[in-house]
Amino acid sequence: MSRFALLAGLVVLSVSVLAADAPPDLPRDILPAKLALDEVPLGLGPRLVPKENPLTELRVRLGRRLFFDPILSTDNTVACASCHRPDHGFAGNEARPRGIRGQRTSRRAPTLFNRAYGTSFFWDGRESTLEGQALRPIEDPTEMGSTITAVLDRLRADTTYKAQFEAAFPDGVTAANLGRALASFERVLLRGASAVDRFRRQGKTEALTARERHGLWLYESKGRCWRCHSGANFTDESYHNTGVGWGKVPADLGRYVVTKKEADRGRFKTPTLRGVALTGPYMHDGSLTSLEDVVEFYNRGGGANPNLDPVLAPLNLSKDEVRDLVAFLKAL
Ligand code: HEC
Ligand code: HEC
Repeated sequence: MSRFALLAGLVVLSVSVLAADAPPDLPRDILPAKLALDEVPLGLGPRLVPKENPLTELRVRLGRRLFFDPILSTDNTVACASCHRPDHGFAGNEARPRGIRGQRTSRRAPTLFNRAYGTSFFWDGRESTLEGQALRPIEDPTEMGSTITAVLDRLRADTTYKAQFEAAFPDGVTAANLGRALASFERVLLRGASAVDRFRRQGKTEALTARERHGLWLYESKGRCWRCHSGANFTDESYHNTGVGWGKVPADLGRYVVTKKEADRGRFKTPTLRGVALTGPYMHDGSLTSLEDVVEFYNRGGGANPNLDPVLAPLNLSKDEVRDLVAFLKAL
């Protein structure tokens, strides 16, 4: 090999290593300046707000600043928003988003819409509060790779953060308050007032097209979707085995990891369907790219395996029915 070729090879190699290491870009805060604390959009009920963490303007504002700030990651490159992207329905735009030093997470980053109604968090439900959940990514070695102690030191050293914490909480910068501020911001990320809500709640027939109405009917009948994606937030907040990712190596056992019960092998938390047109790729492993792929997956009866949820079976939806069900999902 000539010296030139060797050199060119080295350049190519180092450029690709750099690209693999590059942190994801930091999305900007594109939300309106003022976020509603008192009202919820049409179609949603009252938020679940724990007594220990009342929703206040100051807590939401602080949580909002933290959410977009890479200060929470060890090398100042990754923010919550890097994986929960505001222009992507607060979900990841890749099957396995990148954390610090370009490392990939093992699951897809779900949407943060309507987590104010969540009763457990993560695809396997291993966290029971939004406050507790918020501290996990900071210490996750592939996500933000820091420690709570290090982050609290940094926040105390920053005079504007210190003042904001002290204004929002009587005891200032603490781990609990860091979780509370982030959770408060997440509780205002609500998605409702869709065409489906105008149709259902206000009786506006014209809010949905004929195809979308047909899709809603399929959703509630032949499609069986409502059996798990039920209620105002289109989720039963429970766990089911749909066969997604079954047989993959390494295996993701889902809820089983938390309960060690055989029946929970391959069960994952039912996600909300609100804003679902924005948040692909879909499923805990991001294995389905489009909503058409998702509906075709259910049309086949899900992914065959010994633990498959008994509600799932082939649906025999025609091409037109698949199209209409997808149109309905997009109206959510
Ligand atoms: C490197 C990417 C990444 C970063 C950074 C990140 N997340 Fe996540 N987030 C994920 C992934 C992946 C999951 C799902 C993991 C699982 O279920 O095991 C997740 C799950 C969640 C959930 C659970 C949602 C649900 O429906 O159960 C919440 C809430 C959340 N993240 C909030 C945050 C907050 C707050 C921050 C910043 C402190 C943050 N995330 C930083 C990737 C990320
Ligand atoms: C047996 C319960 C069950 C039924 C019935 C069901 N789902 Fe699901 N759905 C789930 C679970 C659980 C997941 C997450 C699976 C995973 O990632 O492993 C999911 C995921 C999804 C997703 C991906 C959302 C995201 O953010 O990744 C969409 C879209 C969806 N379902 C739509 C539908 C439609 C449309 C129907 C009816 C044709 C339906 N579901 C029927 C339980 C169900």
